[in-house]
Amino acid sequence: MMDKIRIVGGKRLKGAIPIAGAKNAALPLMAASLLADAPLTLTNIPHLTDITTMANLLVELGVTLEVGSVGLDECHTGRKLILDGGTVNSTTAPYDIVRKMRASVVVLGPLLARFGKARVSLPGGCAIGTRPIDYHLKALEQMGAEITLSEGYVEAKLPQGQTRLKAADITFPRVSVGATENVMMAATLADGKTILRNAAEEPEITDLARCLIAMGADIEGVGTSTLTILGVERLHAAGYAVMPDRIEAGTYAIAAGMTNGDITLQNVTADIMEATLTVLEAVGMAFEVDKAARSIRCTLRDGMLRPIEVVTAPYPGFATDMQAQLASLLCLANGRSTITEAIFENRFMHIPELQRMGADITEQANHIIIRGPVSFNAAEVMATDLRASGSLVLAALAAEGETIINRVYHLDRGYERLEEKLAMCGAEIERVRE
Ligand code: UD1
Repeated sequence: MMDKIRIVGGKRLKGAIPIAGAKNAALPLMAASLLADAPLTLTNIPHLTDITTMANLLVELGVTLEVGSVGLDECHTGRKLILDGGTVNSTTAPYDIVRKMRASVVVLGPLLARFGKARVSLPGGCAIGTRPIDYHLKALEQMGAEITLSEGYVEAKLPQGQTRLKAADITFPRVSVGATENVMMAATLADGKTILRNAAEEPEITDLARCLIAMGADIEGVGTSTLTILGVERLHAAGYAVMPDRIEAGTYAIAAGMTNGDITLQNVTADIMEATLTVLEAVGMAFEVDKAARSIRCTLRDGMLRPIEVVTAPYPGFATDMQAQLASLLCLANGRSTITEAIFENRFMHIPELQRMGADITEQANHIIIRGPVSFNAAEVMATDLRASGSLVLAALAAEGETIINRVYHLDRGYERLEEKLAMCGAEIERVRE
């Protein structure tokens, strides 16, 4: 499926956009179903290809999947998934599925903890860097797993005669979202009290911890960088609603900023996106937060965009997943901005495409200098990864004329009903099916 997106930019966007459940929370939450032999009911699941990939992987492992109320093929937010880990009959995550989505690797910890063995294809590199999983593996080894690499697969098992992982005191060398998730899940069923130090504090980790607690896990320090997990014999059935997608929300906030628009984000709270809102305020945006209504109205303060210096960092810092979209906005700011990418080594794939649309950006290793303001011009461009694609959509919304974005499948991994949501605010946008 090589769909394209066609955007005629230059329109002021005005309206309301419902924010979907967070992809990066939903994926590990779905994997948590492997930990119990009873159903896990998840609501507010976004409609995205990455979610379908994870669903396919879990079904491949034997999880019984039931899609509540609305079908997976229907365009509707907030669907319900019932995942029953009681029927798991395989512990192999095959290459064919893992290669489509790196996040598949979060099944490793749960499988190993519950079944004492797991075979998971190595995810390999991706457009934004090498992205190894050494922290995941080293931590599981500290918990007693024997790990070998063979034929492109990670093979993990417990030593002969041992039925549970054993607790350990683990310090991650660097903050890793995926490693924290994998090892936290594994520790819920381990023998004894595991301590995870320098753990990721992302809200998606907190969401996972809360769901695990609802399933009967004993976790302390939720929301901090030290998690203490006392293993239990088994986890039970539970229901949990996925948190809002702060990256989707941040992207549409920037759409308001770039089109001098007025967009109200719905089903989202400001507490999970403080770093983004702070940066956007410094650039010249204004936010009206309605806590009770769970909405955030996004406008420009005085029509003027100011330059800024930003460094990406683990939560609560400015998210690397917002970096590409921010770069598009800063092209319109009056002066010299810089962005330093401190999480991934190769996450400026969108820069050459933005330059083709008129951006004045200089790249120096993990650092970019943006000179503005420029006016974007329409062009035919290519999406390279998920958030890079978001930055191209934003630039296209601000550009005069017709932009064609190729390789839209990247967008479909993480932006639910993108063209519908933007069209509701007055954007001239359509999907061209091939
Ligand atoms: C998650 C998010 C992704 C986000 C990233 C950083 C999901 C599905 N994906 O990815 O959208 O951009 O967090 O916020 O939630 N590293 C190692 N060894 C490891 C693990 C990580 O060297 O074993 C490095 C990575 O290469 C990277 C850094 O640590 O440079 C942080 O990566 P990590 O937080 O693990 O990212 P993901 O969990 O893959």
